[in-house]
Amino acid sequence: MATTQLEVVDDEAALARAAADIVSDIVAANPDAVVVPATGETPLGLYAELTARRDTGGFDPSRLTIVQLDDYLGLDPGDRRSLFGWMQRALLAPLGITDGRVRRLPADGDPDAVASFDRELAQAGIDLAILGIGENGHLGFNEPPAAADSDTRIVDLTPETIAANARYWGRAEDVPARAITLGLRQILASRRILLLASGAKKHGIVRRALEGPVGQDVPASFLREAGAEVTVIVDRAAWDG
Ligand code: PGA
Repeated sequence: MATTQLEVVDDEAALARAAADIVSDIVAANPDAVVVPATGETPLGLYAELTARRDTGGFDPSRLTIVQLDDYLGLDPGDRRSLFGWMQRALLAPLGITDGRVRRLPADGDPDAVASFDRELAQAGIDLAILGIGENGHLGFNEPPAAADSDTRIVDLTPETIAANARYWGRAEDVPARAITLGLRQILASRRILLLASGAKKHGIVRRALEGPVGQDVPASFLREAGAEVTVIVDRAAWDG
């Protein structure tokens, strides 16, 4: 059963530093780690901090393997608005991680390709998953309700997620309605999980995920039953509301 550690820090900058300390320690102990990095706004400070540490010799990402967590369906491969594009700009390019070290989700969601993606992933396993949490409790795009044993798959995005992401697309009507996500089974099988949340808008869902009933309506609540060592880092606004 999981051990879940909660760290409440003052603000986003402290969150980035605390998360970077954990990621640096994991990568120092295992330079070949397989890492799943969330996109979204929450981990941007962490990725900037890791880039700064790489520049001063405190973090070496050169042997990591990066596995994509989620993406929209139906975009052109080079579309800047894809989450892969986001990951490239926020993490891969700044850290100098080349395409050969990245396992990209099958962008067309082809079932055979998805099944073989999960099989290959299961061989190495995920050493570290860096996750955010949606205001609806999703991890990746595992929208509620999502079963703990759900595999990597195509999903319909919920109205909450479409609304939350409308700011990146101009208007909600332009947000792709479907996406592909690593399954909760794959995420929860990670050896270490780091969940990050900041800001008062995450307060309600953070408390539900950590203190409410564990179940499909709040996919992030399953972290409390993961086999992994789970560290939750939240800023005071997310914790106190
Ligand atoms: P955010 O997204 O970091 O942009 O808040 C989190 C999520 O939806 O998982």
